[in-house]
Amino acid sequence: MKVAFIGLGVMGYPMAGHLQQAGHQVTVFNRTSAKAEKWVAAYGGQMALTPAEAAREAELVFACVGNDDDLREVTLGPQGAFQTLMVGAVFIDHTTASADVARELYEAVGERGAHFLDAPVSGGQAGAENGQLTIMVGGDQEAYDLAQPVMQVYARQMRLLGPAGSGQLAKMVNQICIAGLVQGLAEGLHFAQGVGLDAEAVVDVISKGAAQSWQMENRALTMLAGKFDFGFAVDWMRKDLGIALNEARRQGVQLPVTALVDQFYAEVQRMEGGRWDTSSLIARLRK
Ligand SMILES: NC(=O)c1ccc[n+]([C@@H]2O[C@H](COP(=O)([O-])OP(=O)(O)OC[C@H]3O[C@@H](n4cnc5c(N)ncnc54)[C@H](OP(=O)(O)O)[C@@H]3O)[C@@H](O)[C@H]2O)c1
Repeated sequence: MKVAFIGLGVMGYPMAGHLQQAGHQVTVFNRTSAKAEKWVAAYGGQMALTPAEAAREAELVFACVGNDDDLREVTLGPQGAFQTLMVGAVFIDHTTASADVARELYEAVGERGAHFLDAPVSGGQAGAENGQLTIMVGGDQEAYDLAQPVMQVYARQMRLLGPAGSGQLAKMVNQICIAGLVQGLAEGLHFAQGVGLDAEAVVDVISKGAAQSWQMENRALTMLAGKFDFGFAVDWMRKDLGIALNEARRQGVQLPVTALVDQFYAEVQRMEGGRWDTSSLIARLRK
């Protein structure tokens, strides 16, 4: 298929690469054009100088940019993809953004006779590179059926969860579940070291029991070693928790632990840890 990919960041760069390697004709756009040039040199395909130019002939247009405002700029902006989107095309947004912007863009794209899916992902940089992402999708069944076989190239699990905005709401659930869990893990490891246990040995044992988690499997040893220069940045996590807390406030849902952990991440940012991995909550306990 003719497809376009907007935003070649940590996530978008390898995701667009999977599409090209699967045999699709991919046109990429990146705000910093050097990254698009590098991508074309690595994978082939074509680059465009604006999102509108990238989307012009594409049956599917993918995006993975930073936040709500970035997404509005690459879609609704004067050089945005919605200026040229074809009738019947599907715009698939992999950005972690608000459910509001997903509904807004769903409406805007509908007026052009095209479709919109909010499709945030989980699985991090490694998941994007290995084609093993989890994709939470909101939108119409018809659009999902068109996009699903193409997204399959970088997905381990994917599901349409309801109307526009449902993908973003599900991603909020994902981040809420992670926040409290990482703080619990940080406290457990901090306690193990504080009482003089061999913390690595403890992790080896308890990771086979009920305390097991993805975070324990993948992050406990680096947390013990104080290594955080990789992974999912605290700045991004604060954006995501801000979105979730706003939605919860509006809907009257209580998220007491999430609100607390959000403030702990604010402290990590004040420790110059904005680009550290989210497992850096333990650094705050040690300070
Ligand atoms: N990294 C992860 O582990 C992870 C996991 C799950 C979900 N996510 C989510 O996925 C999204 C992207 O994350 P990432 O780690 O790939 O971020 P990133 O490396 O910072 O890349 C962001 C991309 O968006 C582009 N961009 C930002 N603002 C723009 C604007 N106003 N106009 C045009 N392009 C713009 C950037 O262009 P430039 O190159 O010009 O800056 C870059 O290509 C975020 O919403 C994040 O929360 C990330």
